[in-house]
Amino acid sequence: MDYVNLGNTGIRVSAIGIGAWQAGGSFWGSDVNDESAVRALVKAHELGVNLIDTAEAYGDGHSEEVVGRAIREIGRDNVVVATKVHGGHLHRDDLLKAAENSARRLGVSEIDLYQVHWPDPWEQVPLRETMKAMEELYKKGLIRAIGVSNFAVRDLKEAREHLSVIDIASNQVRYNMLQREIEEEVLPYCRRENITVLAWSPLAQGALTGKYGPGRRPSDDVRRGNKLFSDANISEVEKLIRVLDEIAKERGKKIGQVALNWLLRNGGTIPIPGAKNEQQAQENAGAVGWSLTDAELKNIERALSSLKLTYYP
Ligand SMILES: NC(=O)c1ccc[n+]([C@@H]2O[C@H](COP(=O)([O-])OP(=O)(O)OC[C@H]3O[C@@H](n4cnc5c(N)ncnc54)[C@H](OP(=O)(O)O)[C@@H]3O)[C@@H](O)[C@H]2O)c1
Repeated sequence: MDYVNLGNTGIRVSAIGIGAWQAGGSFWGSDVNDESAVRALVKAHELGVNLIDTAEAYGDGHSEEVVGRAIREIGRDNVVVATKVHGGHLHRDDLLKAAENSARRLGVSEIDLYQVHWPDPWEQVPLRETMKAMEELYKKGLIRAIGVSNFAVRDLKEAREHLSVIDIASNQVRYNMLQREIEEEVLPYCRRENITVLAWSPLAQGALTGKYGPGRRPSDDVRRGNKLFSDANISEVEKLIRVLDEIAKERGKKIGQVALNWLLRNGGTIPIPGAKNEQQAQENAGAVGWSLTDAELKNIERALSSLKLTYYP
């Protein structure tokens, strides 16, 4: 496994992490349960993955409890645990309470990376109040680093202005071959400012594994409404999958591993694929330690540029 610094914190994290939304409950399908989720996290650790991402929102804290079980098995010092405060808990008092509750569910005295899950669009809590509260947690020693999620550059800039003793370490945003919006502003800014990008949905929720196609779409609650799996879109994605499959076969890799490795091509980005079981955790860890060639990257780019995805029915 390769390791990198998390932003400018000096915290060493694996070049790929593991997402634990899947550990939150059955909304990801009936083929995941607490036991399989714990086994996935433990397997990832055995393969050198030390970064686990969860959130109080995932199953109303259940994912954090499952991650806590895994941490007890893995050993606290072997894990960098990242969790998130719900976007509805961004007032100071709510946020302080949320952090304590998360730490309790995780069974840790200190959260390694505490992230604002999303900027609050409804209650208009001033970002100043939220970021000051985050810094208060840092000063108290309840968190080791501050992260944000789904922040645009304008939000990042403002959030950083309200911090005085510690900078933002990471921004967790959606990023995969099919959804590259962050390449326009967020990614260049984060690279320049040494803010690590944690890529969520790095496998496009499974669309980039080759398992799904027209008439073969996942039926769980999370993905039922995901337009990427509409027949029209997934038929387009199949064209890309054929190119990825060819590369995967030549390199002795899986399609999903090629998709994850692509995210590592320029540095500064850590994919955090969700895994439901040991096998997925193992495959995802195997996305690290090798590189796509320039010719392979060009082939992928060519295939991507001809895809026509639509988010409108
Ligand atoms: N900050 C945010 O707002 C936000 C939002 C979303 C997610 N996240 C975080 O990011 C993590 C990952 O994102 P995500 O879960 O949305 O999407 P993802 O990682 O792109 O996809 C995960 C799904 O892909 C399938 N999969 C995983 N590994 C596989 C493998 N090796 N082979 C075949 N299929 C595989 C599994 O579903 P099937 O086997 O059922 O196909 C799994 O549930 C989450 O766990 C969470 O921690 C954060």
